[in-house]
Amino acid sequence: MATASRTVEPAGTTPGARAFPPGFLWGTATAAYQIEGAADEDGRTPSIWDTFSRTPGKVRNGDTGDIACDHYHLWREDVALMAGLGVGAYRFSVSWPRVQPTGRGPASRKGLDFYSRLVDELLAKGIQPVLTLYHWDLPQDLEDAGGWPERDTAERFAEYASLVAGALGDRVKTWTTLNEPWCSAFLGYGSGVHAPGRTDQADALRAAHHLNLAHGLGVQALRAHLPTDARASVTLNLHHVRSLTDSEEDRDAARRIDGVANRVFTGPMLRGEYPADVLRDTAHLTDWSFVRDGDTGAISQPLDFLGVNYYSPTLVSAASGPGSHNADGHGASEYSPWPGGDDVAFHRPPGATTAMGWAIDPSGLYELLTRVRDDFPGLPLVITENGAAFDDYVNPEGRVHDPERISYLHGHLTAVHRAIEAGVDVRGYFLWSLLDNFEWGHGYSKRFGAVYVDYATRRRIPKESAHWYARVVRDGVLPPTPHARA
Ligand code: FCB
Repeated sequence: MATASRTVEPAGTTPGARAFPPGFLWGTATAAYQIEGAADEDGRTPSIWDTFSRTPGKVRNGDTGDIACDHYHLWREDVALMAGLGVGAYRFSVSWPRVQPTGRGPASRKGLDFYSRLVDELLAKGIQPVLTLYHWDLPQDLEDAGGWPERDTAERFAEYASLVAGALGDRVKTWTTLNEPWCSAFLGYGSGVHAPGRTDQADALRAAHHLNLAHGLGVQALRAHLPTDARASVTLNLHHVRSLTDSEEDRDAARRIDGVANRVFTGPMLRGEYPADVLRDTAHLTDWSFVRDGDTGAISQPLDFLGVNYYSPTLVSAASGPGSHNADGHGASEYSPWPGGDDVAFHRPPGATTAMGWAIDPSGLYELLTRVRDDFPGLPLVITENGAAFDDYVNPEGRVHDPERISYLHGHLTAVHRAIEAGVDVRGYFLWSLLDNFEWGHGYSKRFGAVYVDYATRRRIPKESAHWYARVVRDGVLPPTPHARA
């Protein structure tokens, strides 16, 4: 990532093709709980997602991550799949309860060895490991002690970061503290559609702060244990919030949602303070006294890049009363994941959607990237997740045709390229996901993979989009239309 230049190369021979800058990093992404399985092997203890998914009614069809893609046993095959795609990087997460089973105290040697073998295999295949420390699988013991609303969880995270950095820091150069703390805080403790399934907006705000603090303390721990050439980052699911009309009320609704979706994280992390309007909008829920002197300083650590996950824009207007948050694409619940946003209505943007019901709108990604550049000049960006679920199936010839995914990827990569042309410093792109996997509350019903997984046999079948992506990666060039050759 350090080597990317911002120059856009001439497009090659095909008119309309788009060449990415030399050094642009192409990758695929996964997360531990979604693919590993082996839930109680080698000393792993339950995470909040094990508990949640084993609780009737929480995950579609009662699906759990007990077996998932069985990546814990098939990791070598999965690295070979990536080598076949020709990607330069792999973004994966470490399962906290696998490497530190009770969330405190000594590491599990067997747990760390799994990731050590994985990293060695990636490096042997010329694939750069990009490690996320926390993709939502808090050790259940820490949740039992209060979870993210408790300050101690942030301290525990820093200790865990030190353990992983100590074991893998000689080989892993790119580190991410948290994946999408918005989901951990507001879906986990606000609307309750994610683990641990709690529904208290004040707790959700406390969780957001302690996740921010965990990030800051985590970066400090990483810097203390890693060589100076290591890169530290965080991944946010920044929401591109649009207001339905230009009216003052609708624009204010957009401001409020932007505050609690984005700025409650970017404020402390990148500016060293919580935005005054967010504190005001949520003052009826909490007095924020859990933010101690020095916290925002600890949170705002210099970062080497910001990871941005983008799937779809968010469309809001003023007031439609309780329950209106259910059209926000984050799962139905009678409780809101938007503290301070009770009188905001969420609308389904017009146009085609994916199997998640999420609007397909690459212009949202372009606008988001240019806005982040304007708000935080000089901060390199990496798209750490982008992709789509469709109703894929294996045809009688044994193939998976997924032209809609190819179009989705083409549209969004075009948006990334346009942003680079507009001077935004985007260093890489990670397709979500390498494999079909456990899609949280949706269980195995939503397929995001470039590679199809037959869960019963664990068989992997690269979809047409995987072959398409491999060509883009190989050439570093996006063809002019989804189904043309570059
Ligand atoms: C993101 C998550 C990822 C996956 C995609 C579809 O919010 O980070 O694990 O579920 O959505």
